Amino acid sequence: MSQVKDEKLGFQGREKMDWARRHMPVLAQIHERFQKQRPFAGKKIACCLHVTKETGILVLALQAGGAQVSLCGSNPLSTQDDVAAALSEEGISVFAWRGISNKDYYQALNRALDVKPHVVIDDGADLINTLHTSRTELIKGILGGQEETTTGVIRLRAMARDGALKFPVIAVNDTPTKHYFDNYYGTSQGTLDAIMRSTNALMAGKTLVVAGYGWCGKGMAQKAHGLGAKVVVTEVDPVKALTAYMDGFAVMPMDDAAKIGDVFVTVTGDKDVVRQRHFQSMKEGAILANSGHFDCEINVSELKGLSTKVQRIRDNNDAYRLKNGKTLYLIGEGRLANLAAAEGHSSEIMDLSFSDQALAAEYLVQNAKNLKPGVHELPNELDQFVARTKLDALGVKIDQLTSEQEKYLESWKEGT
Ligand code: ADE
Repeated sequence: MSQVKDEKLGFQGREKMDWARRHMPVLAQIHERFQKQRPFAGKKIACCLHVTKETGILVLALQAGGAQVSLCGSNPLSTQDDVAAALSEEGISVFAWRGISNKDYYQALNRALDVKPHVVIDDGADLINTLHTSRTELIKGILGGQEETTTGVIRLRAMARDGALKFPVIAVNDTPTKHYFDNYYGTSQGTLDAIMRSTNALMAGKTLVVAGYGWCGKGMAQKAHGLGAKVVVTEVDPVKALTAYMDGFAVMPMDDAAKIGDVFVTVTGDKDVVRQRHFQSMKEGAILANSGHFDCEINVSELKGLSTKVQRIRDNNDAYRLKNGKTLYLIGEGRLANLAAAEGHSSEIMDLSFSDQALAAEYLVQNAKNLKPGVHELPNELDQFVARTKLDALGVKIDQLTSEQEKYLESWKEGT
């Protein structure tokens, strides 16, 4: 039994998933092998993920491998209702709809957990957090978990530091075939897509402020530069700030950036990055978008407090009329813009991230007994397999080490 917005939308969701499948060749290959080998026979997997066409292809691969799968959304504004309906028709228990309230969001997480899962796949760590706070009775049945995003991994490492994490979790985010591609190429393209869809603003000649110069921020800065924007980076980490400077971007505190930016994008993973005093000094018409996981990076309640009126001027674009006479535009209610106001990362990118997730689930089921509670890496062979299979699918060939080269790399004796 599922809870979705409109069951009649399934046909549209299936068409979308057909597109995704055709652009996810690595995951398609894993799906085929899972179907033959059934690594999840008898296992239940609860997923808390953005309910998109790409997530659809992942959960169907897990199901083909023998898993009973339940799925809830990992953000109130990221669920694609047609995909949710299609997955429900395919026998996935789906508890998700776009625009879900906070209360229903947590209820949906609990419904997904009601299956008593062996494995949990999370994006942002809300599901794992719920297990450790209000569903502790289920922990004994859990083999392990998997985390998709930087913010979630940060939360889980904090739990592990406090001795609070009670089972092994694979930090899928941290594997190279995930964050070098998903965070770098996916977030940047999706965020710019979201800003352009909801404003149609020209990026060329604009001053675009990127808060945070992690993998998402680096991608954002590069893509915005490619569109002709003047990029300003704000950072708190001196090494990242220096990297941004040497990459050719202006670096300054948000207090200064706030006065000159036309477009602001937050990708820090932290709260209150753009707040009251920044809003007050912004230029007329500035556009604000957050693509960090949670909606706390832009302090929306302070923005509301400074406003006389908030008007939805078009889909995913709210005009805040400030008491100082200026208007600021907020994309996707300050929730992660690339998913709330666009479609999330392209299928080609999610092919990598979700192949990592599929292989992590198989690895967990086979190896959980040997893994201690805590945050673990995805084994390097699996990461390499995903990259090689993607290259094969793209028709790209690469060199191989000769045996002399292999020996040279393993030896410390040869020098000058
Ligand atoms: N995170 C970012 N993009 C996504 C997508 N297309 N599907 C699921 N999770 C995502």
